[in-house]
This record gives sequence, C-alpha cells and structure tokens, in this order.
Amino acid sequence: MIKGLLEGQTPTGAEVLVEGWVRTRRDSKAGFSFINVHDGSCFDAIQVVAPRDLANYNDEILKLTAGCSVEVRGELVESKGKGQPVEVQATSIKVVGWVDDPDTYPMAPKRHSMEHLRANAHLRPRTNLIGAITRVRHRLAMATHRYFDEQGFYWIHTPIITASDAEGAGEMFRVSTLDMANPPRLENGEVDFSQDFFGREAHLTVSGQLNVEAYCLAMSKVYTFGPTFRAENSNTSRHLAEFWMVEPEIAFADLNDDADLAEDFLKYLLKDLLDALPADMDFFNQFVKKGVRDRMEALVDSNFERMDYTEAIAILEKAADKEKFEFPVTWGVDLQSEHERFLSEKHVGKPVVVMNYPRDIKAFYMRQNDDGRTVAAMDVLAPGIGEIIGGSQREERLDVLDARIEEMGLPKENYSWYRDLRRYGTVPHAGFGLGFERLIAYATGVENIREVIPFPRAPRSADF
Ligand code: 4AD
Ligand code: MG
Repeated sequence: MIKGLLEGQTPTGAEVLVEGWVRTRRDSKAGFSFINVHDGSCFDAIQVVAPRDLANYNDEILKLTAGCSVEVRGELVESKGKGQPVEVQATSIKVVGWVDDPDTYPMAPKRHSMEHLRANAHLRPRTNLIGAITRVRHRLAMATHRYFDEQGFYWIHTPIITASDAEGAGEMFRVSTLDMANPPRLENGEVDFSQDFFGREAHLTVSGQLNVEAYCLAMSKVYTFGPTFRAENSNTSRHLAEFWMVEPEIAFADLNDDADLAEDFLKYLLKDLLDALPADMDFFNQFVKKGVRDRMEALVDSNFERMDYTEAIAILEKAADKEKFEFPVTWGVDLQSEHERFLSEKHVGKPVVVMNYPRDIKAFYMRQNDDGRTVAAMDVLAPGIGEIIGGSQREERLDVLDARIEEMGLPKENYSWYRDLRRYGTVPHAGFGLGFERLIAYATGVENIREVIPFPRAPRSADF
C-alpha cells in the first residue's frame, strides 16, 4: 500500500510493488516521466519515476492518462524533488487497464462541481475529496464501535423492516409483498396496504430506538448503528432519504447523563479523527472549509454549552431583528436550521446542547417534565450544520405514555410490546441518535451531506 511507503514503513533501497490508478503524468525534457499513482490508502499519491529505457516507454508510458490502472515495480528511493519524502524508481510498469477515451473521462484531474461528482457517483471515489471523505467515514465508524465497546455497551442489530413508526411522524417507506395485479381490497375498493408484509403492515425503519430500548432494559448499555429511512421530501443539503444513525441507549439514566454521553462521544470521535488522519484533515482545513480543523481542535478541549429551549428562544427573539430570520421565533415553535446555526455558530461558536423542548413539537416517547409543557429532550446543534444529535429521556411511566399515545392519535395496538417494557421492571432511561452523515459533514466542512455517503438517496438524486 502507498501509505506504508510514504510513511517510512519500508526502507529506501527496497524493491516495491505499487498497484493503483494514475492521477497525473508529466514528461521531463531529460527523457523520463513522473507518474503520480494513488490507491486510496492515504491522501497523497506516490511519485513514480519512469525512465526512458523501460521497454514500453514510448508505446505505453507516454500514453498513460488519469484513471489508467498500473502495476509498478521498482526501487523505493529518497526523492530529490520537494513535496514527497520518497518516490519509486520504476524498473517495470504494467498497464493493467486503459482509459477508453481520456477526453471524456469524467474524473480528469481538475476541479469538478459537486453536481458533476454526484452524477458520477461510481467514479467519484477516485477524487481527492471523496477519497478523503471515505477515509473519514470509515474512521468515524470504527471509532464509534471502539468507543462503545470500551465503555461496556453492546451493539444491537435492530431491524430494518418494522411495523412501528418510531418517531410517530408518518415519514415511513412502505414495504410491500402484495401482488399488485390482484391486491387485497378494503370495503371501499381501495388497496388494503395493512396487509403489506405477508398480511401485516410493514415499513422501513426511521430509527432503531424503540427496539434498542428493549435491549437497554435488560443489557443496561446498548447502541444500534445502521441505515435508517425517511420518506420526507426535503430537498436540502442536510437531509437524505437513507442515512445512517448511531443510537445509544442507557438505563438508570436521565437527560443530563444523556447529554454527558453525547458530549463525551463526540469529543472522542473528533479527537481520534484529528490524530489518525492528519493529511486528510489538513486538506479539508485548507481547501474545503478554512479553519474546520482548528475549530475541532478547540472543541475537543472545551465544554459544550448547554441551555434550555426557553433560554434559546429568548436569545433568538433578541437577535431576530438583526438576523432577519426567515421563520419567526416564539416559544412553542420548532427551531429551524437558520436558528440552530445562529445559536451554535454565532451565539456560542461551538456545539450547543438545547434541552427541554415544548412537548407539542416532540415525539410521543419523550419524558414529560413536571411543568407539564416541556419534555426531557435534547438536540446537539453544531456550527455549519445545525442539529447533529437528537435525543431524550424516555417516558418510563406507563400511564403517562398511554395518555400521550392516545392524545397524539397513534395506534396503541402497534406499541403493545413497547408498553410492556413499562409494565415489567421499568426504569428511567435515555438515549440519542447521531446523524452519521451530519457528523461527517461537520467534521470535514463539506457543505452538502450528499457528498459524505457513497451513493446518496434523496429526492431527484442520481440513480446508482
Ligand atoms: O432527531 P431524530 O429524528 O431522532 C430520532 O430518530 C431518535 N429516535 C433518536 C434517538 O433518540 N435514538 O434523528 C436523529 C438524528 C438527527 O439529529 C439528525 O442528525 C439525523 O438523525 N437525521 C438525518 N440525517 C440525514 N437525513 C435525514 N433526513 C435525517 N433526519 C434525521
Ligand atoms: Mg430531531
């Protein structure tokens, strides 16, 4: 791997094999060529020096273009040029795959628009940008599992196909096994979609939370990490129809414990990233969003600000004239992205945890506070992106939960197993969901979360 060569794991003088894709080729007047080859293992490509006396120099080497795949053998030597510690003095270069038509190769080495990259989602991992994002995504996922493992959490694999609407927001994709040529019908003649899944209703999960709660109330500390689906038609830079979510759940815990966990977890992930991928983070810091790395370094050593929703509203109301918000702010409204960004970016300058939201704008499972008008909910808002975490203490009292389910007009029979958890050894418990793509966008400074998932699913997104 090129990473090992560039990081000094192989001594100079050694015979090496480099397998990868050509990024650039430059021919020197002195009669040799420099070929930059990348293989995804690290940010930098390695420089290969191809001397004129290679048997295929004229016929092949001089025809290499960006995207060709090659197998290079040669000696690892100290580089005379600036910019790289070592290079490979090639003794043979085998062209494994040519690029059909270099003029129309979609990833020619230049700055491409994000739209162009998205339209070529199958080739965009060859770019610096998507390569770096891919390494960050991998690192954050691995660090997530490492963090929870170290803390004694169990990873629970919650189902993708489910009957329950975890958020009660009706944003679910239907899963159907019905024979649409001859579907079951209601009395009024309409298709009976409640028969969808072999005679039952079924959807793609919007969150693993309800299932993970069941395991929490037996295993104490658990989390789920997997794809979730929202059939919301929001064509924004922070919404996907298919996204990944990390959802920890802790027993014998309240909202403050939940906020502590969220803060500790986020700092762990970001610190790990800064330590593990300095070259990638340097690239984001310089070329994607100036200062994004410095911002994170500061964050790892600081404490997140925490404030009540009521206080947040007071701050926003005060700022409203100057900021010219598109959406009006009064106590009771849900915070819009512009409000979230104002609070974290301008008011506090780092992530802020907003707690205790009005009950009327939040999900049925959140624990009611004694004031009767708020619930023990929290959102972590981050500069540049807004909400990256949503969580709460859960309603552990069956009577209060039942009243809420009824009040919201949710089908009580769908939640019978969830209600059981309150009937048999209930305890205070809490958890949250971290939007994995929003975290990556925050950590890299990338503006649109469609860049941080390999094949984005969003309204009108390209189809792969
Ligand atoms: O706030 P949400 O809807 O909370 C839940 O789903 C809870 N059940 C989580 C829990 O308590 N276990 O979603 C959690 C996070 C959001 O803060 C956001 O970061 C992300 O998931 N998210 C999305 N990310 C991308 N595209 C979407 N359409 C998203 N919807 C939510
Ligand atoms: Mg939310």
